[in-house]
Order: sequence, then C-alpha cells, then structure tokens
Amino acid sequence: MTSWAIAVKDDELKEGKMKPVSIGERQILLIRKEGKVFALDNRCPHMKCPLQAGILQDYYLKCPCHSWTFDIRTGAYIASDKIRINIYETQVKDGIISVLT
Ligand code: FES
Repeated sequence: MTSWAIAVKDDELKEGKMKPVSIGERQILLIRKEGKVFALDNRCPHMKCPLQAGILQDYYLKCPCHSWTFDIRTGAYIASDKIRINIYETQVKDGIISVLT
C-alpha cells in the first residue's frame, strides 16, 4: 500500500538543488528542476553510491562514482532503459513536499 509521506518544507529545496531525505527505510533524493520536484532512490543501481554527490545537468544526474547517468524524470539509465532507479510521485501542498511511497 502506498501513502504520502512528508519529506521537507517546500522552502528547504531551492531551484536546481538536491536534498537527501530518509522516509522510513528509504533513502530518497529530492531534486527541484524548473519548479517541479522529482524524487528518486538515493542509491545508484550500479554499486550503491549515494547520488546526492552526483552532478545534475538539465534533467540528467551523473553518479559520482563511475558516471552512470540517469534521467530524473523517468529514472532510466541513459545507456540502457532496462536499468532504472525507482522514482516517486511528489506533491507540494501547504508549504510541504510529500513523496508517495
Ligand atoms: S556506483 Fe554509480 S556508476 Fe558505479
């Protein structure tokens, strides 16, 4: 069963920035890009490096360890869409960012 979980206050995530959060057992990375909030697992599917130290360029996040790059909109690895990071739906309401987990 999925439910909305409060992640952070809206003003804690600035445009173009990333913020790691823990929701239950999950380590999730929030990213605000062009006003929209994206949420994805904060562990690279290659060797589990935390993606919060990655480089964000446009909608693409490059892992800091071995440069695998993912589309934050879909979670897809750009070299193979068979490999994906889990992504989560988000909402911003009453000054709070929530994640559907
Ligand atoms: S751990 Fe991310 S590319 Fe290797």
